[in-house]
Amino acid sequence: MAELLNLEGVWAGYGDAVVLEDISFSLDAGGSLALLGRNGMGKTTLLSTLMGATRFKSGRMSFEGRDLVVVPAHRRAHLGLGWVPQERDIFPSLTVDENLTVVARPGSWTVKRAYEMFPRLEERRDNMGNQLSGGEQQMLALARALVLNPKLLLLDEPLEGLAPLIVQDLLRIIGRMVDSGDMAIILVEQHAHQILPLTRHALVLERGRVVYSGESETLRADHGQLDKWLGVGAH
Ligand SMILES: Nc1ncnc2c1ncn2[C@@H]1O[C@H](COP(=O)(O)OP(=O)(O)OP(=O)(O)O)[C@@H](O)[C@H]1O
Ligand SMILES: [Mg+2]
Repeated sequence: MAELLNLEGVWAGYGDAVVLEDISFSLDAGGSLALLGRNGMGKTTLLSTLMGATRFKSGRMSFEGRDLVVVPAHRRAHLGLGWVPQERDIFPSLTVDENLTVVARPGSWTVKRAYEMFPRLEERRDNMGNQLSGGEQQMLALARALVLNPKLLLLDEPLEGLAPLIVQDLLRIIGRMVDSGDMAIILVEQHAHQILPLTRHALVLERGRVVYSGESETLRADHGQLDKWLGVGAH
């Protein structure tokens, strides 16, 4: 598999504050990475750094072999980075259908295919974004990222605050997205046991530093480390 994303010794933060220290990892095209860590450890900051929304201090970041650091934030989506932020980001006064069609770009994920993945959205295609439940809004945010046909999809806690039944639904869908290999995925979650079975690789952050980088399967089996880094009950 071709390497899609590579970070070497990345330091980044906000203003003068450094949050991320010496981050290195890489991800292949179509690959999957669980990005784990407790509250405030730097997960969102890492995704924001990929999107160009933090202050980059030093290190190297490349995407498809080209230097990402010099690409302005507003151009990164065009390169193929798709971001589903922690706070659901949909257009409240457009219908579900409009939310999808206004952002869709050519690629294997058409609006039709997105509806096949999310039948609940198709049933509500004429509802306004702000008439959807929290779970449906999260589905719409995901579907919108899919029809952008990114090469790398960044999902920031897509399961947060959702009812258990919807969580199961979304986990199944995310598993299918990973298996399709159509795009690489970085998935941020607090609940390791829910996403480690879905992803090939995992990265754990502690106070802005990488404390684990390797196979998800290996981490999943290591209850001692999971307890230490992610809290009792992480497995
Ligand atoms: N816009 C900002 N300006 C200054 N500091 C920030 C900003 N956003 C986050 N931070 C700080 O950076 C650190 C890492 O925060 P970040 O949001 O990356 O954590 P996280 O791992 O995503 O946590 P959570 O699981 O709660 O979402 C925290 O100390 C936080 O206070
Ligand atoms: Mg966060």
